[in-house]
Amino acid sequence: MSAKPLDAEALELRYLGRKGELALLLRDLKDIPLEERKPLGALGNAAKADLEAKLAELKGAAPAAAAAAPGLDLTLPGQPFPKGSLHPLTHTMNRLAEGFLKLGFTMADSPLVEDDYHNFEALNFPQYHPARDMQDTFYVDAKDAAGKFLLLRTHTSNAQIRAMEKQEPPIRVFHTGRVFRSEAVDASHSFAFHQIEGLYVDKGVSMADLKWTVDAFMKDLFGSGVKTRFNPSYFPFVEPGAEVDMSCVFCKSGAGRCPVCKGSGWLEVMGAGLVHPNVLKSCKYDPEKWSGFAFGAGIERFAMLLYGISDMRMLYENDLRVLKQVQ
Ligand code: DAH
Repeated sequence: MSAKPLDAEALELRYLGRKGELALLLRDLKDIPLEERKPLGALGNAAKADLEAKLAELKGAAPAAAAAAPGLDLTLPGQPFPKGSLHPLTHTMNRLAEGFLKLGFTMADSPLVEDDYHNFEALNFPQYHPARDMQDTFYVDAKDAAGKFLLLRTHTSNAQIRAMEKQEPPIRVFHTGRVFRSEAVDASHSFAFHQIEGLYVDKGVSMADLKWTVDAFMKDLFGSGVKTRFNPSYFPFVEPGAEVDMSCVFCKSGAGRCPVCKGSGWLEVMGAGLVHPNVLKSCKYDPEKWSGFAFGAGIERFAMLLYGISDMRMLYENDLRVLKQVQ
């Protein structure tokens, strides 16, 4: 049989209470001559502190805490600690990056404030090319060495040029980041948004390689049931150029009145094509020897499809009720 547990409350009352044994002893001190009273008083106080600490220990509390905050119940559950989470866009970029790293692509970087050459000229947009009009550009009040205004990059395609300038072929890189266009904000547009860019240059790279890569990547992201299709399109830096559609992940059939694909069954998700010989030349890659593909896609679109977000503005308003849903 174990010994009867000590009753901390009773002990406290008996020794430290207002009429407890210690209090009575200390009260009697007043009748003792001053020179003896001093050391006895100190002894009494030390005994009191000692008793308090032992009692706190007996109650299961750390002696200091119990002494500092009487009534603190350390057995209560603690305050929940708010845990942060990654922004849905960061999450999406990480998922895209994982997909491309698996396919043997390396991560490249490129600047947000860019010069005309890397954003346009080297990508086969000559100075007065009408395709520049589609990229409503924010210019910066500063000029580059060529006397042209710097700008906020309008797409991540500058990463293609920056990467090829740094490295000899073969090259297989991707880049994710922010881009800027002078657009009015609505449910599917913003003046600042995000893109992913991919580039592969090697010997004999063809449209078939592009189609396989894009399809594999989309299946990795949205599941093996997803289909992709290519429609001819125009971008100055690719030839042939294409727009890539994926099958709608919401209605899956195209039948009915799906608000996401508007009943077509397809969603346009990226631009792609074979790297234009002029682009290869501007990076001193011999187009007779090397060929490549490139693609670019908006990240907000993927985030909205992955997490079922219907209005792009939700990604920028920083409402915790939205952000916390993506862990
Ligand atoms: N840069 C284009 C845009 O922002 C998207 C794009 C189209 C990127 C075709 C590409 C590509 O790499 O091959 O509209």
